[in-house]
Amino acid sequence: MLDAGRTETLLEVNNIEVIYNHVILVLKGVSLSVPKGGITALLGGNGAGKTTTLKAISNLLHSERGEVTKGSIVYKGERVQDLDPAALVKKGVIQVMEGRHCFEHLTVEENLMTGAFTRRDGKAAVERDLEMVYEYFPRLRERRKSQAGYTSGGEQQMCAIGRALMSRPEMILLDEPSMGLAPQLVEQIFEIVRAVNEGEGVSFLLAEQNTNVALRYAHQGYILENGRVVMDGPAADLRENPDVKEFYLGMSDEGRRSFRDVRSYRRRKRWLA
Ligand SMILES: Nc1ncnc2c1ncn2[C@@H]1O[C@H](COP(=O)(O)OP(=O)(O)O)[C@@H](O)[C@H]1O
Ligand SMILES: [Mg+2]
Repeated sequence: MLDAGRTETLLEVNNIEVIYNHVILVLKGVSLSVPKGGITALLGGNGAGKTTTLKAISNLLHSERGEVTKGSIVYKGERVQDLDPAALVKKGVIQVMEGRHCFEHLTVEENLMTGAFTRRDGKAAVERDLEMVYEYFPRLRERRKSQAGYTSGGEQQMCAIGRALMSRPEMILLDEPSMGLAPQLVEQIFEIVRAVNEGEGVSFLLAEQNTNVALRYAHQGYILENGRVVMDGPAADLRENPDVKEFYLGMSDEGRRSFRDVRSYRRRKRWLA
């Protein structure tokens, strides 16, 4: 469990600005910190800048013609924004991309094994971790010989997270794990994230549009809007915050609102000028 008083900060993002194609300013000064051992949620609607933030951290922006033009990204006291993604994986930070990318033509087990490619600690250790992944994801054990392209969306998400675990990470950047999955499956994936967090001590920074589920599993959260952090705090506080309830959880003290109601109320947001 996370103890706010004694935790070490793993990752610090300080006031970063990201520009695509030299002109499109997408992140306008985003700062956040991820404590060791915790689950931190990065929340916000479609286009808020969640994926851009994660890609800035793991140095995946170049292929998108994006660039961090201001600010710094520090992992365990070291500036990491000039490293390549593979070097960051060696330092223990790995990203699971939005849309659960698996190698479709490989089996589930082969996919998991590709996650271990940067490791140099031998076959026995890798075999042990494969077993560890199967314990967290019994479904993947059942499907180990299946070609990944023929497994369900939920199984592919599990496979993508399992593959990340095979690199023995200290921290996983997880982008929209709930995307396109049925609610029951979303719950199952988050249960596993929690179990991995508690059982292996892996820290998570997870981007989610599904505020409701993310705030039930995260320890702390940041809400992004239009490339800026508009609110942050312990997950329990955010869950109780009237604005978060109204605009992100779709309910308020007057009762549950429909999505359309929430949209029309957006105009009088209290925390934005
Ligand atoms: N490669 C890109 N080139 C130009 N604009 C982009 C690119 N990728 C994302 N954007 C824009 O950046 C903004 C934030 O996108 P993104 O980080 O994907 O948000 P989120 O993950 O919160 O949905 C959006 O307005 C999006 O259109
Ligand atoms: Mg995204």
